[in-house]
Amino acid sequence: MQIFGVDIGGSGIKGAPVDLEKGDLAQERCKVLTPHPATPDGVADGVKQVVDHFGWTGPVGLTFPGVVTGGATVRTAANVDKSWIDTDARTLFGGRLGGLPVTVVNDADAAGVAEMQFGAGRGRSGTVILLTFGTGIGSALFVDGALVPNTELGHLELGGHDAEKRASSKAKEDGELTWEHWARRVQKYLAHVEMLFSPEAFIIGGGVSRKADKFLHFIEGIKAEIVPAQLQNNAGIVGAAMRAAQTQP
Ligand code: BGC
Repeated sequence: MQIFGVDIGGSGIKGAPVDLEKGDLAQERCKVLTPHPATPDGVADGVKQVVDHFGWTGPVGLTFPGVVTGGATVRTAANVDKSWIDTDARTLFGGRLGGLPVTVVNDADAAGVAEMQFGAGRGRSGTVILLTFGTGIGSALFVDGALVPNTELGHLELGGHDAEKRASSKAKEDGELTWEHWARRVQKYLAHVEMLFSPEAFIIGGGVSRKADKFLHFIEGIKAEIVPAQLQNNAGIVGAAMRAAQTQP
């Protein structure tokens, strides 16, 4: 079975039909640039372009970088245009796509669902937390394989700051931090999350998962196993399609 997955990110809107048995893209993905400002209307146009590229007419799953409730309603927009807050994204995208059935989910939750089934989380039980390090920090919490959605652990307070402002990849770039310096901040952050949830494992996702050899060895004193994500660029697309499949009638 195939469902179309779309990953809406700060720089690009990427999508492709997803083969749900393989957990992989069924065709090469299409990417358009995210408009700036990334308003609901502008992003919906980009999504339409990506879906139309394949002439797709079936169900579509989309990620969004904020809290999304009920597969539909955007509740927060930390790093995107504030006009998203309280937007019914299911109705917006569904309308723009000519009435196709649409499910919208948090981006980290989508990546987590894909990793748990097809990547670094395969076969893991107990409490597992995927953290994505990018413009912000996204989180996906699993208990015996079941997702607890919208956990937003990137916004925990760390040393008086919003954690993602200190320990995201963007914070590393903006502050021109060395890998070691940044890894120490990530270590403090992981220690805090570990104190709250005592997970069996942390899965480290986002662009930095490809560079795990540059920083994981600097992280000490965490009891949970720390493993890099495996699906990398496509985790969001695959996970969005998987969530859409789980919510089809
Ligand atoms: C948002 C999360 C999102 C994360 C990664 C955070 O700022 O609040 O919802 O998952 O960024 O995009």
